[in-house]
Amino acid sequence: MNQRIRKAVFPVAGLGTRFLPATKTVPKEMLPIIDRPLIQYAVDEAVEAGCDTLVFVTNRYKHAVADYFDKAYELEQKLEQSGKHEQLELIRNVLPRHVRAVFVTQAEALGLGHAVLCAKPIVGDEPFAVLLPDDLIWNRGPGALKQMADAAEISGASMIAVQDVPHEQTGSYGIVATGNFSGREGRIDAIVEKPKPEVAPSNLAVVGRYVLDSRIFGLLESTQPGAGGEIQLTDAIAALLTEKPVHAYRFQGTRFDCGTHIGLIEATIRYALDHETLSDAARDMMQSALNELGVQELK
Ligand code: G1P
Repeated sequence: MNQRIRKAVFPVAGLGTRFLPATKTVPKEMLPIIDRPLIQYAVDEAVEAGCDTLVFVTNRYKHAVADYFDKAYELEQKLEQSGKHEQLELIRNVLPRHVRAVFVTQAEALGLGHAVLCAKPIVGDEPFAVLLPDDLIWNRGPGALKQMADAAEISGASMIAVQDVPHEQTGSYGIVATGNFSGREGRIDAIVEKPKPEVAPSNLAVVGRYVLDSRIFGLLESTQPGAGGEIQLTDAIAALLTEKPVHAYRFQGTRFDCGTHIGLIEATIRYALDHETLSDAARDMMQSALNELGVQELK
């Protein structure tokens, strides 16, 4: 599989019920961190890793994601006429020119594995990436997917991003058992979706970045519903590792679980504190908010 990935799959068909009522009309992938929606961060990471074909697996209610990547003629014209060139560039650059977006509908919400399988006709027979936009990964250096794509090109293995989580949280993640790590990579011996802490093989959790051999599609086709009654990507990966090498990759960077309220808040704070123009104001504002709350707590 020592081939550079060119295609990235974004499963964005979920209902986002944790963020209701906001997600009644706005898909969770469109929730912003500062001024960019979550999906934009994931797309930028994929493009940086070398992908030029982005496959969005969406559902029939999620026009907002397709609209976002479409050309906004009227808006462009208005910004041009009023000389707002900086903003014009921002909306023109949501996708670089050499990158194409393809939209595939997942007719029924049958699980993450099923969503990835929907991308099969576009991806075909080549290694590809899967990015879950809920998992936002912040890094000063190369993005997590680029790190993984570089490693996959060298080792020829499929790569699954992992990080340590508190043992009591294993039930929220895919969990892997690995052999020894060499640098950031360790061969996966077993993988299981959302095990209870009592039976979890480790506390090394899967984070939403994958570089996968296209063999995964054939395996997904015969994967039966698993945890939560859904067709799980994790179960197909468990089958893949009996045939081909699959490595866990401890990426460099900080992951925010933007599928939860606190994760979205945490990401917003971190990006604000690191922001070119907002960081000082954000720090002062947070300091005074903490001071005010501290005073209230003492009462
Ligand atoms: C999915 C995967 C799980 C992985 C997680 C990472 O679960 O099924 O293996 O650990 O993403 O965010 P979800 O969070 O969609 O339930």
